[in-house]
Amino acid sequence: MTAADLGTLAAEIAREAGDLARRRRSEGVALAATKSTISDIVTEADREVEQLIRERLKAERPEDGFLGEETGAERGSSGRTWVVDPIDGTVNYAYGMPGYSVSIAVVEGEPDPDRWRSIAGAVCAPALGELFTAVRDEGAWLDGTRLAVTTETPAGALLGTGFGYDPSTHDGDLATVRRAMTIARDVRRMGSAAIDLAYLAAGRLDGFFERGLKPWDFAAGVLLVEEAGGVVTRLDPAAARPMLVAGGPDVHRRLCELVVEDGG
Ligand code: IPD
Repeated sequence: MTAADLGTLAAEIAREAGDLARRRRSEGVALAATKSTISDIVTEADREVEQLIRERLKAERPEDGFLGEETGAERGSSGRTWVVDPIDGTVNYAYGMPGYSVSIAVVEGEPDPDRWRSIAGAVCAPALGELFTAVRDEGAWLDGTRLAVTTETPAGALLGTGFGYDPSTHDGDLATVRRAMTIARDVRRMGSAAIDLAYLAAGRLDGFFERGLKPWDFAAGVLLVEEAGGVVTRLDPAAARPMLVAGGPDVHRRLCELVVEDGG
């Protein structure tokens, strides 16, 4: 399969998985368990959607590896791995807000975000009716429109960010936001990092930063941003909560300077 074929497969499965997530949402959401903290919830739908994605990939790409938020990692023999968040923005999903997404990326090399090279990705936001796709060296797209990050921010940068679910990290994250606000026009906290990155690729945000994201939260979104002409850096990757910074070249550079100071 070419990179473009893999992108088509990622998009098809993301769309199908998104439809399932939306259907399950309309039927009501069951909280299946809590994860790192009581507010870090996982729904039955997260599990069912990941299962669907896993089965589809197993049928189409039996030799590839898999790294999913809910069911973990399985190494393949092809050197490629599918990195999957079945529902990014689970809290939005549970509360009935439309800002949730299915994020699917295929990467090659070690299944480690600091070493892999992403090949293709898709972010489907079913309740928003949008499917963002990217293929390495072939661009990022939203329904036939090629995406490009913003390069000028004369009124200041519209920034996106997020906070982890652990309240003990909130003070440090808020201190980072305070510093980033010096270049901001305003800030958005929308609740799905995959959508934040897709919006950045689409020029709907000028910059994004967040500590502690997991590989499945950003694998597809990072490729979207890069293929839309943006720059993404994972600062202090060995830290407990590495900082992901993304933006057009200028906003990215200025954010990198502003976010590093607290070390938290
Ligand atoms: C979360 C979302 C959220 C971000 C959190 C993530 P999940 O992913 O991406 O925007 O702020 O840090 O954990 O748990 O909904 O898949």
